[in-house]
Amino acid sequence: MSDDNLKRAAAEAAMQFVPEAAIIGVGSGSTVNFFIAALARGRLRIKGAVAASNATAELLGKAGIAIHDLNTIRQLPVYFDGADEINGQLEMIKGGGGSLTREKIVAAVAGSFVCMADESKMVAQLGRFPLPIEVIPMASRYIARELEGRGGRPVPREGFVTDNGNVILDIHGLRISDPVAFEEEINQIPGVVTCGIFGRRPADILLLAHPSGVEEFTRRDRT
Ligand code: A5P
Repeated sequence: MSDDNLKRAAAEAAMQFVPEAAIIGVGSGSTVNFFIAALARGRLRIKGAVAASNATAELLGKAGIAIHDLNTIRQLPVYFDGADEINGQLEMIKGGGGSLTREKIVAAVAGSFVCMADESKMVAQLGRFPLPIEVIPMASRYIARELEGRGGRPVPREGFVTDNGNVILDIHGLRISDPVAFEEEINQIPGVVTCGIFGRRPADILLLAHPSGVEEFTRRDRT
């Protein structure tokens, strides 16, 4: 089964968590694109969506789904998104598509986070996937040096500008043993907008697609 078929299977399994007549949060990436296609095909009537990227807003619009400004909403019942890596605590690395900051904002407002992923995304420890960090352009060299000092190998994402007008550093070679602590540490560096660790706001439900079917995990709180 190809990765795309697994992503589609995870996205279709997420339909069961879409509340009728609600405004939902929608992330970005190829798995989310399958989710939007399933939403468009399905008979479920949602009231609309808050999009975590311009690309997602465009796709939702084409599917006839009303886009809402996050500033007009106090709470979203649920946020749907993919991940680049996810561990057993449902902590994630995200931002392979560069939308990590808006994804983190929309996820923060949501009551629950449903992550849809193919089985290749599950890892024992975060860090094999290069950690994306959105940075203010004038701070990028300084932040790169700070990450080198923490054992990482920063690679500027060439020719890429985020929806917020910033740039991305992809940090290779990290082994992230405490995602919450590392997220907090990196986010304190001046010039960092946010890093792609979702430890403070992990997923609540993971739908992990295998060739044999979609497995559902629910997060247990850290002890
Ligand atoms: C986008 O910025 C990311 O956070 C995506 O959610 C993540 O990269 C997963 O992407 P795919 O669904 O394309 O694998």
